[in-house]
Amino acid sequence: MVKINIAIDGFSSCGKGTLARYIANEMAYIFIDSGAMYRGVTLAVLEAKIPIDAVDEIEKLCKTLFFTFEKSMENGRFELHVNGINVDHKIRTLEVSNSVSEIARISPVRKQLVAVQRAIGRNKGVVMDGRDIGTVVFTDAELKIFMTAKPEVRAKRRFEELSAINTSVTYEEVIANLKKRDYIDTHREDSPLLLAKDYKVLDNSDLTKEEQNSIAMRWVREAIAKVSIS
Ligand code: CDP
Repeated sequence: MVKINIAIDGFSSCGKGTLARYIANEMAYIFIDSGAMYRGVTLAVLEAKIPIDAVDEIEKLCKTLFFTFEKSMENGRFELHVNGINVDHKIRTLEVSNSVSEIARISPVRKQLVAVQRAIGRNKGVVMDGRDIGTVVFTDAELKIFMTAKPEVRAKRRFEELSAINTSVTYEEVIANLKKRDYIDTHREDSPLLLAKDYKVLDNSDLTKEEQNSIAMRWVREAIAKVSIS
C-alpha cells in the first residue's frame, strides 16, 4: 500500500502525541514527537547552565547534539535519546516546559532540527506532531491535522499527567505554562503555529478517544485513497 506523511500540529497539551502514536500503530508508520527534540535541546541548555538568551552559545551546543528515538523495552514506545542517553522522562518536567518555547524560537536551533525531521520523512510512512510540521517540515504531507481543545480541558489533562510523576506541581502553574507557550508559539517570527487552509481541524474538547481516533483514521484512509488514484 502507498505510504503517506501525516502532520499533526496544534496547541500545547491537546493530545497530539497520543493521536499520532495511535495512527502510527494502526498504520505501522514511524511516530516522531518533534516537541521532544526541542525539549531535548532545552534540557541540554539548562544542564549546561547556559542563559536562555545566549543564542550563539545555544547554537554551538545544539550542533553537538545527536538525536535518536529508540524503542523502550519497558513500554514499547519510542523514547528520545540525546547523544545516546535516554532523556525521555527528564524532558517532560515543568522546568523544561517553562523554557522550551524560548529555545524553540531561535532560528538556528529550528534549522538544525527541521533538517533532521525532514530526513526522517524522506521515505514517507511518518506521523510527526509539533507546531510547524505541516507548514514548514513536511509542506507536502498528504494529511495535515490541526488539533485543538479548550484551554481548561488541556490544562486538566496535563496537570493529571504531571501530578502522576511530580506531586508538587499545581494546576495554576500548568495553565500558566500552557498559556505562555501558546502565546510564544503563535507569535514568534520563525515558523509560528498557524492554522493554514490545508489542515483538517480536530477539536477534541468533547470527544472520546475512540471518536477522535475514528475521525482521524477516516481522514487517513481518504488521504491514502487520494494518492492511490492520482
Ligand atoms: O506536549 P506539548 O504539546 O505540551 O508540547 P511539545 O509538543 O512537547 O512541544 C514543546 C514546545 O516545543 C512547544 O511549546 C514549542 O515551543 C516547541 N515546538 C516547536 O516549536 N515546534 C515543533 N515542531 C514542536 C515543538
